[in-house]
Amino acid sequence: MHSHIFSNYPPKDKSNLIPLLQDVQNIYGFLPETALMDISEFIGMPLSRIYGVATFYNQFRLKPLGKNIIRVCRGTACHVKGSANLLFALENELNCKAGETTRDKTFTLETVACIGACSIAPVINVNGDYYGRATVKDIPKILKKYASQTNSTEKIEEQITSEK
Ligand code: FES
Repeated sequence: MHSHIFSNYPPKDKSNLIPLLQDVQNIYGFLPETALMDISEFIGMPLSRIYGVATFYNQFRLKPLGKNIIRVCRGTACHVKGSANLLFALENELNCKAGETTRDKTFTLETVACIGACSIAPVINVNGDYYGRATVKDIPKILKKYASQTNSTEKIEEQITSEK
């Protein structure tokens, strides 16, 4: 039960759906199904409609992120400098597509529009670290650096499990 999240909201008020979804995502990093079921009951809205809203807005995620978030810039400057090759190499190396998380949840691969570092294009960002003028040859080294690192995702998963 996610009653600690709901305490700021009156029950059966459908207008609070978006803030409730934002609160849940702020805590877990994504929208666990159990939380969506609880929201459905709390505000009196069918689960299917809540999924409809959650999938409509880009800000919401229905799956947990990996331990490390790789963002490949696909803005114009990076595209001209070969960011498509970087993305292709990462997809091959990780065996997952952009927008997906590796099976072992070590990496989530995303693409972004201009990441604000065009002067060092093409750019890859991993957990906030910038890798400018990146080449396909750099990728194994970058992945190795983060593969053994962990972040709060495991703690979040433990938290979800304990609330079931
Ligand atoms: S286009 Fe990639 S940083 Fe601007």
